[in-house]
Amino acid sequence: MARPTKVMNDTSFAHTLRNAIRPGYAKVMMQKVTRRLSPKERTRREAVDWAAQYRIKPREWCEAQDGLLAAEARQFAADLRARAAQLRDETGLRIGGGARAELLYFLTRFTKPEVVVETGVAAGFSSMAFLSAMQRNGVGRLYSSDFPYFRADNPEEYVGILVPREMRTDWTLLLKGDDVNLPQILEAVDHIDLYHYDSDKSYAGRRFGIDIVKPKLAPSAIVMMDDIVDNVFFRDYVAETHTPFVVFGAGEHCVGAINLKR
Ligand SMILES: C[S@@+](CC[C@H](N)C(=O)[O-])C[C@H]1O[C@@H](n2cnc3c(N)ncnc32)[C@H](O)[C@@H]1O
Repeated sequence: MARPTKVMNDTSFAHTLRNAIRPGYAKVMMQKVTRRLSPKERTRREAVDWAAQYRIKPREWCEAQDGLLAAEARQFAADLRARAAQLRDETGLRIGGGARAELLYFLTRFTKPEVVVETGVAAGFSSMAFLSAMQRNGVGRLYSSDFPYFRADNPEEYVGILVPREMRTDWTLLLKGDDVNLPQILEAVDHIDLYHYDSDKSYAGRRFGIDIVKPKLAPSAIVMMDDIVDNVFFRDYVAETHTPFVVFGAGEHCVGAINLKR
């Protein structure tokens, strides 16, 4: 596996500055800053209160659908956490996240998608969930979009670091940001069965991320959106489109799921 050449240190102003002046990065950075200035970003409390009325515990939900598969997903998540801890020890990298890997693995095993598209890879917990479940299903390809983490020395090497080389044959990973990557992915696929949005969490970013993929969603496609309490986008979206939804969450961290074609 490719190893990052230096340990990430998030106080490293120099790394941030050097990465930020790479071609194409300035545009994405500016967009992030502008989007975060919107008053719609200051709606976390409202979103938390809304989600609390609906949330169901992901593990209980999985068990109710298929107990055996739920146990398999739990084991997968435990193995992945162990792998992340080992990699953390070996590299000194801060490998965080992955709270939803168990649910994503379960859903992929349960629904057997042919085409999965995700935005937001970071260390690759979600990518590993999709790839491992698809490998077990014997079918499926994953298309991922990321925009390498700024504070790492060599951010491209960090993206998807949890995914071993031998699991990358059914994986397309693009690193130029959703604005560039998603149109390319949409050209490459004829439909999407499962879409996981976990990148730009701003209201406008989420709107872009859903609107752009909608024409390619299969009739049974599931759309998952992580961290839906960051702002009220998910609440507004399901209300304005009259889409039935599920909110998965055990605490404030909630994931929304919808099917836009039903
Ligand atoms: C929360 S992390 C993703 C975690 C990942 N899904 C997991 O389960 O481990 C968010 C990722 O989205 C990336 N990101 C942020 N803005 C982006 C954008 N505009 N386009 C693509 N990726 C973006 C970040 O660099 C980061 O790697």
